[in-house]
Amino acid sequence: MSGNSLGPARVIRLATAEDRAAIVEFCRATWGPGTEDYIERVIDRWIAGVDGALAVVDLGGRAVACCYVRFMSPREAFLAGMRVDPAHRRAGFSLALTEYCLRHAASHRRSVARTIIGWNNSPALGAIARAGFNRVGSMTLWERSTEDPPAPPDVAAESAQPSPHPSPGELWAVGWAVRELTDEDIRERTESGWAVRRDGGVALLRPGEDHVWLGWLAGPAAARAWLARAAVRVATNAGSPRCRALLAGDAATAQALEAAGFTRGLEYLIYERSTR
Ligand SMILES: CC(C)(COP(=O)(O)OP(=O)(O)OC[C@H]1O[C@@H](n2cnc3c(N)ncnc32)[C@H](O)[C@@H]1OP(=O)(O)O)[C@@H](O)C(=O)NCCC(=O)NCCS
Repeated sequence: MSGNSLGPARVIRLATAEDRAAIVEFCRATWGPGTEDYIERVIDRWIAGVDGALAVVDLGGRAVACCYVRFMSPREAFLAGMRVDPAHRRAGFSLALTEYCLRHAASHRRSVARTIIGWNNSPALGAIARAGFNRVGSMTLWERSTEDPPAPPDVAAESAQPSPHPSPGELWAVGWAVRELTDEDIRERTESGWAVRRDGGVALLRPGEDHVWLGWLAGPAAARAWLARAAVRVATNAGSPRCRALLAGDAATAQALEAAGFTRGLEYLIYERSTR
């Protein structure tokens, strides 16, 4: 893709280390003056392509937009960190980058791509709809400081009750991304010591940068209430200042989190599209 005599050439390509400074610069005020964008913290990993690829729109030799396509499983991809330089918005760059990332995912045999967008982010919601994605669900962000943790739940009695299984296609949060949850994930979390069980319920946890993520909470309401408190204790014991949850949930999940002292944050809408 290139420009014409009316302006600088536009190319969409994978990012290199030389793009770092420009990307960090145009992400400086993504969420308004004085706010922080997490892109700067992850950009080196993204440029290195550890679990995906960072694509950029290059305008006359300078990156003016970026998006990371992350490989979540052998068939799933996730689009993260779509950012367009405020000076170059409404020029079709997010649409072009999305198309590029979908093609990249397809060429790596990923058949489905998803993303999550805050319910109140109307530019991004408009752009994702234009790109042909459909809304398939939502998740709410919850957060709690580990200061003043709830009373330790009584000693975990490994109950004889079976653990819940994910329903087919059920999504869970892996940090700021989602993918399908499988019994293999539950086994892996259990073996790595990041699953807590109680009375037919299970909580799947994951250490994050400055917090512990609670990515799935399932089972009877009483078990969920216990597990939400236990998750905070796990974060406290891990030395994390915060416990965060990104959960699709019903009233019982919300009650469990509120009772454990979590504060409800933004609702994120989940969008999905076939890459073909
Ligand atoms: C959301 C964002 C990526 C859109 O990038 P963009 O390059 O300006 O979007 P495009 O030019 O490709 O727009 C594609 C379509 O999206 C919709 N859209 C984009 N910006 C919009 C706005 N401000 N208001 C309403 N609709 C908008 C329109 O339907 C648009 O098509 P149109 O221009 O033909 O009407 C950009 O505004 C941005 O970087 N925002 C801050 C970061 C962010 O919110 N990232 C995404 C969520 S993590």
